[in-house]
Amino acid sequence: MIALGIETSCDETAVAIVQDATKVLSNIVSSQVKLHSPYGGVVPEIAARHHIEVIDSLANEAIKKAGIAWNDIDIVAATYGPGLATSLIVGLNFAKAISLRLNKPFVAVNHIEAHLFSPFLNNSCVDHSDIKQPFLALVVSGGHTCLIKVNKIGDYLLLGTTVDDAAGEAFDKGAALLKLGYPGGPLIDNLAKKGRKTSIVFPKGEVSKLPKNSTLDKKLCFSFSGLKTALANYIKNNPEVLNDEEAKANLAYAFQEAIVEVLVYKTLMALKKENLSLLCIGGGVSLNSRLRSVFEKYAEEDNYRLLLASKEFCIDNAAMVAGLACLNRSVAGEESLNVDVVPDLMI
Ligand code: KG4
Ligand code: ZN
Repeated sequence: MIALGIETSCDETAVAIVQDATKVLSNIVSSQVKLHSPYGGVVPEIAARHHIEVIDSLANEAIKKAGIAWNDIDIVAATYGPGLATSLIVGLNFAKAISLRLNKPFVAVNHIEAHLFSPFLNNSCVDHSDIKQPFLALVVSGGHTCLIKVNKIGDYLLLGTTVDDAAGEAFDKGAALLKLGYPGGPLIDNLAKKGRKTSIVFPKGEVSKLPKNSTLDKKLCFSFSGLKTALANYIKNNPEVLNDEEAKANLAYAFQEAIVEVLVYKTLMALKKENLSLLCIGGGVSLNSRLRSVFEKYAEEDNYRLLLASKEFCIDNAAMVAGLACLNRSVAGEESLNVDVVPDLMI
């Protein structure tokens, strides 16, 4: 089965062709970082306009790179949420139009579910039987921090999430406070490599109170807004730190450590609590070098199997959308053509 995937939930325009769920034939991502960085974050109107301008030529490029013809496509998939409404609309409608033109089924895909599936793409360490077993997924991105028990693809139990900022959002806000630029994750990651452990310790993202009606276990939930405030206060009380490269690197190190530690600690707790031995990690923050190395270290010590998304599939991409659509077609067929965007879709 050959799937065409489209992803436009935020500021990346992405088109991909995937065969039989996991074999990526082409993966085209057009980043808009340069357009948004002067504003310190994504401007929805600019993002949507750019998606419209490039999506058609990216789709043609994806077909060409995959070495297939339009008629070889069996299903067409696009993200319908969560994300920016104006951005989602572009990809969703483009994909629906292609599905109608080719007369092939359309599958609407949940973006968080696509990230959760991304570690299986082009991964020589897995086969299809791995995808059928229960596992724990950690999805860490600019918009989400979710611990999900996957009974099987399509059958999920949300175990924990953030009660305020997402982990990537914390990196982005921290980088802005450190005057590093946007997006903040890679900038903090690089600066922290030059830093070392000092006496600076930031709060570890524990949750004191869950929102009313929440049935989640607060021990498996995250809170990153206090960390951002702690960094802001530190800089306010020590403004000279911004002009001292070594002190700034040490600060970036402590800030990154606080985020990574809580992600690792709660993920290991969830693995034990749910008695799971396979851990899959995806989303933009899973590019973080410290996060990857700490999880790898614990995988050896704690005897769980770790599947990290390959770097090209961590950030938003359409291969994860096309791949997932081959397996989970719960929002598929004629009905799916009536699906609208759902900006606040959860798992
Ligand atoms: O998955 P993604 O591309 O978009 C969302 O679905 O949100 O994730 C983007 C996020 C941004 O917040 C960015 O700062 C973060 O991923 N990120 C990183 C790194 N690279 C990207 N965070 C920490 N370390 C990195 N190396
Ligand atoms: Zn994402």
